[in-house]
Amino acid sequence: SRTYDFVIAANRLPVDRVVRDDGTEEWQTSPGGLVTAMESVMRGRSAAWVGWAGIPDETPEPFTDDELLLVPVPLSLDEVTSYYEGYSNDSLWPIYHDVIVPATFRRSWAAAYEQVNERFAQQCAEVAAEGATVWVHDYQLQLVPALLRELRPDVRIGWFNHIPFPPVELFGQLPMRREILTGLLGADFLGFQRPADAENFLRACRRLLGARTKGDVVDVPHTDRRVRAASVPISIDAGGLRELAMSEPVQERAREIREQLGNPRTVLLGVDRLDYTKGIRHRLKAFEELLRDGRLSADDVCLVQVASPSRERVEAYRELREQVERTVGSVNGAYSPIGHTTVTYLHRSFPREEMAALYVAADVMLVTPLRDGMNLVAKEYVTCHDGPGALVLSEFTGAAGQLRQAFMTNPHDIGGLKQAIMDAIETPEKERARRMKALRNQVAKNDVQHWAETYLAALRAAPEKPAPTE
Ligand code: G6P
Repeated sequence: SRTYDFVIAANRLPVDRVVRDDGTEEWQTSPGGLVTAMESVMRGRSAAWVGWAGIPDETPEPFTDDELLLVPVPLSLDEVTSYYEGYSNDSLWPIYHDVIVPATFRRSWAAAYEQVNERFAQQCAEVAAEGATVWVHDYQLQLVPALLRELRPDVRIGWFNHIPFPPVELFGQLPMRREILTGLLGADFLGFQRPADAENFLRACRRLLGARTKGDVVDVPHTDRRVRAASVPISIDAGGLRELAMSEPVQERAREIREQLGNPRTVLLGVDRLDYTKGIRHRLKAFEELLRDGRLSADDVCLVQVASPSRERVEAYRELREQVERTVGSVNGAYSPIGHTTVTYLHRSFPREEMAALYVAADVMLVTPLRDGMNLVAKEYVTCHDGPGALVLSEFTGAAGQLRQAFMTNPHDIGGLKQAIMDAIETPEKERARRMKALRNQVAKNDVQHWAETYLAALRAAPEKPAPTE
C-alpha cells in the first residue's frame, strides 16, 4: 500500500466519529488546540495522519480527506480507560499543568500507555516512505520517537508538545520519568511552546538521566546522537479566520447575538474546553463578586461562557462541571433581570462561523487559565474582533509571552482579576483600539503557517552533528 513522505502522529485524528443519541453517526472536527492548528497546516498537503477516531473498539478503514490520508489507530475500551483517560489525562495532564488537581498513578495505566505508543510507532513505520519526515504530537505519544527510531532508523522524527513541560520537581514524580525522557530523545528535534518548557526538559535530562547539555542541545547518553530542544510557539490560521470574521454573514450574526443578549453595554466572553486548567471557576467568582459589590450591574453587562464538553468520564472533570453549573445557576438566580440571563452558559461546541461571530460580538474576552501551554482562543479573539475590544489574559498561558498588550492577570488573585476586568471595561476606547490592533498584528505576523515553517526548518537542520573532539 502507498507510503508518504510526510506523516503526522497525534492521539486524535482531525475528525472524530460521533454517535448521536438516535444511533446515527457522523464525523465532526475534533476538540482542542492541537487540531485547530494542525488542521490548517495540513490542509491540501499530501500526507498521512495517524490517530484515534474517538470511539473505542472501532476501527474504520483508512480514508482520504482531500490529499490527506487518515489512518485510524484502534483503541479498545480498556485502552481508552487506561491509556487515554487514565495515563494521559489523569497522570500526565495534572503533572504537566502544575498539579492543579492531584495526579493518579497506576501501573496498569502506564503499561497501556507503552502498549498504545508501540501501536502508534508501528502504524507510522508502515505508512512512512523511505527517508520520510514523521511529526509526532503531544503528551499522549512521548514514547513514539524512540520506538519509531528503532523500527525505522531512516526517517527524520520531530515531536512537538502542545501543553507545558513541567519543572523537574513535578516531572520527577512520574514513575515513568526516565522512559519518557528516553522516548523523547529518540526524536531529531523537540519543540516546546515557551522557552521555559524547553528549559524544564533540558534540566530534567540533566538531573534524571545525567545527560550533558550545551545551550539547547542534549547529548543522548550512551550514543553519539544529539537532540535539540527549543521553543516554537504555536498559532492559528490568522488570515483564514480574519476573512471569515469580516464576512457579511458573520458580522450580521454578531449583531444578532448582541440583540439576543438584550443589547447590553458590555458583553464578556469565555471560550474553553470544560477543563480545570482553564480557570473558569476563578472567572465566575470574580464576575459574581463584581455584581455583588455593585461595580458591575446586570442591567448593562452579561457573560457568555462557552464550555465545550471534555473528558467527561474523568472524575476531576465531572466535579468541575458540577461546580461550574451550580455557580452559573446561583449567579443567574441572584442577578438575572427578567427576560435575560446574566450568564449564558453553553455546554457544547459550535461551528467556526458561530465562534467567529461570538468573538466579533464580545467587548471583553476572558482568558484566565491557571496553566495553559499556549491558548489559541486568545489569538482567535484578537484576530476576529475589530474595534475597541479588550483581552484579559492570564500570565500562566504561553500566549502571555507574546500578547504583551493584553490586560494581564494572575487568576489566583481574585481581587486582581476583578481589577483587570474593570480596567478592560473602563479603559478609554482609543487606547483599547490601539492595544487590540497591536495584538492583531502580532498574531497576523506569527501565524500558524509561520510556526510550521519555523518548526520544519529546525527539524530539517537536525540531527545535530557531534562536536569535533579536540
Ligand atoms: C489539548 C491537547 C490535545 C487534545 C485536546 C483535546 O489541546 O493538547 O492533545 O487533543 O486538548 O483534548 P482531548 O482529550 O479531547 O483530545
